[in-house]
Amino acid sequence: MEQTLVLIKPDGVQRSLSGRILQRFEDAGLKIVGMKMKWVDPKFAKEHYKAHVEKKFYPGLESMITEGPVVAFVLEGLHAVELVRKMVGATEPKAAQPGTIRGDFAHHSYAYADQKGIAIKNLIHASGTVEEAKIEVALWFKKEELHSYQTVHEKHVF
Ligand code: CDP
Ligand code: MG
Repeated sequence: MEQTLVLIKPDGVQRSLSGRILQRFEDAGLKIVGMKMKWVDPKFAKEHYKAHVEKKFYPGLESMITEGPVVAFVLEGLHAVELVRKMVGATEPKAAQPGTIRGDFAHHSYAYADQKGIAIKNLIHASGTVEEAKIEVALWFKKEELHSYQTVHEKHVF
């Protein structure tokens, strides 16, 4: 059993896609164990995107992630990290497969974003590895903000 962090980024929230995106994860049987809305500030953005701070695209990424509130949630399930990344799709929406969240709801490209000096608008963040997920869940949620309960899936699917 794994936990993973998902953020609906400001572009996803502002496009009113939060409900439809969350529905996909619930449909797959993943359990929501924590959820909040947060307006990220530059300091927290640097913490969350620690691995990218030195990269060329970071200034655009920071502007994008701080431009409005995000919906943050923790999903729990078998192989949750890998499964959620599969459902999210490739980083570049133009390359993301149909059927994935980025492939179905966006079509932004690196070429266009780089030319405009902005971050690629891909709606959603999801932890990339089990290690990353542990760090990100702890960064975004206190222990008491994560809940333990039984879903119908646990009774009828597992
Ligand atoms: O989000 P994901 O793990 O798929 O990609 P990442 O490589 O960890 O990059 C984090 C985020 O930075 C991406 O989701 C994009 O929003 C942004 N990014 C960008 O704007 N331009 C790039 N060349 C690479 C990443
Ligand atoms: Mg990443």
